[in-house]
Amino acid sequence: MQAPPTHPLLNRDVLANPYPIYAQLRESAPVHYIEPLLGAYVICRHEDIGPILKSPAMFSSKGMDLSRRTTNKLSPEIRALVTPENSLIASDPPIHTSLRNMVGRAFTPKRVAELEPRIREIAVELINDMLRKDEVELMEDLAAPLPVTVIAEMLGVEPERRRDFKRWSDDAINSSNLSLADTAPARLEASIRALHEYMQQAIEERRRSPRNDLISALVEAGGKEDFVTSGDLVAFCRLLLIAGNETTTNLIGNGMVALLRHPAEWEKLVADPSLVPNAVEEILRYDSPVQGIFRETTQELQVGGQTLPAGSRVMTLFGSANRDPRKFQEPDRFDVTREVQGHYSFGYGIHFCLGAPLARLEAKVAFEELLRRVRRFEFAASPAESLDWNSNLFLRGPKSLRLKAQLR
Ligand code: HEM
Repeated sequence: MQAPPTHPLLNRDVLANPYPIYAQLRESAPVHYIEPLLGAYVICRHEDIGPILKSPAMFSSKGMDLSRRTTNKLSPEIRALVTPENSLIASDPPIHTSLRNMVGRAFTPKRVAELEPRIREIAVELINDMLRKDEVELMEDLAAPLPVTVIAEMLGVEPERRRDFKRWSDDAINSSNLSLADTAPARLEASIRALHEYMQQAIEERRRSPRNDLISALVEAGGKEDFVTSGDLVAFCRLLLIAGNETTTNLIGNGMVALLRHPAEWEKLVADPSLVPNAVEEILRYDSPVQGIFRETTQELQVGGQTLPAGSRVMTLFGSANRDPRKFQEPDRFDVTREVQGHYSFGYGIHFCLGAPLARLEAKVAFEELLRRVRRFEFAASPAESLDWNSNLFLRGPKSLRLKAQLR
């Protein structure tokens, strides 16, 4: 029997560069249904995405967890753990409003800004270790450990459990059905259970004796909302790992790839490092770590001139919207001096990324410290041999990136 034709977006070869296909879809099929793997209408144009994310009553987040498409790989017991009653990212008002207020009291921009010196210390230590080697593996040496270490310290996780943390977070990402990687369900389940047990214990400990960490702040903030259970807090801590680690890792990795492929832009940053925060915004636009997110229609609706039945799943394809020429001039040009406004890489509306200030800060510090030590990076071997992309359609970033560094 002949295999059914797969959609071009679901082809492994596309992982290296999905943008030409996005461009074709944006022009020829800006709203269209993809059954295999997605089961969703894919929304490709910038102008169609804003109204969707602004209308939670019509485009619901309920059940649209990052890990939603995991669930048919998992046993009912584990499924219950990963789909909590009250999940911030997978809820609508009024539950979302209460949860967001609650975590907003703990995860404040002030708490994040105060972290800058410590983030810099961690980054400098990782970069120093990395640059002692002839060949650098940027993802493993810097891009992955930086956000994990920062969030683990914020939460108050003991240093000896950090390795476990990284594994739990990686497994959670790989458990997504949007990943073309196959991680054994038994390993996923063990990992999900271990994270839950660890978090539950940590929360109970902080209830008895609060510390100066994010878990304690969450426990305190949760205490003010009577519907928030320990299970919800565990789920939120898990969400921080899933939503915050791989995404920030990919931001640093995608940024380095863009700069390697555009040496003149690297030189602009060498000449003027104060451009780094702007460069981070351009990296977010140019190669978004989150390529798209899901919503479900609560009624029959029109999007981009198409009628979507009630109960349809939609995927807003940020990777395409951020390159939409109707919104961005010369969208395929990577320009660290571009005035970037209106990219969707952190989402939009009520679910706008809670961790955006932290992600921006970590990427800024990482690139500032790299620029301070390194005159130039180049691929360790040919680009194809040095760079391997993750097999995930939804979280985009290098799996490995081998480089040689010419030090200052
Ligand atoms: C939400 C992207 C880093 C925590 C989101 C959403 C996007 C996103 C697109 C919206 C989801 C939706 O509307 O359904 C990113 C990217 C990051 C990043 C690209 C890095 C470059 C972080 C970090 C944290 C974090 C570092 C925390 C440590 C969250 C949370 C939400 C969220 C808790 C849910 C907010 C809500 O539903 O109200 N993120 N994120 N993210 N992000 Fe991030």
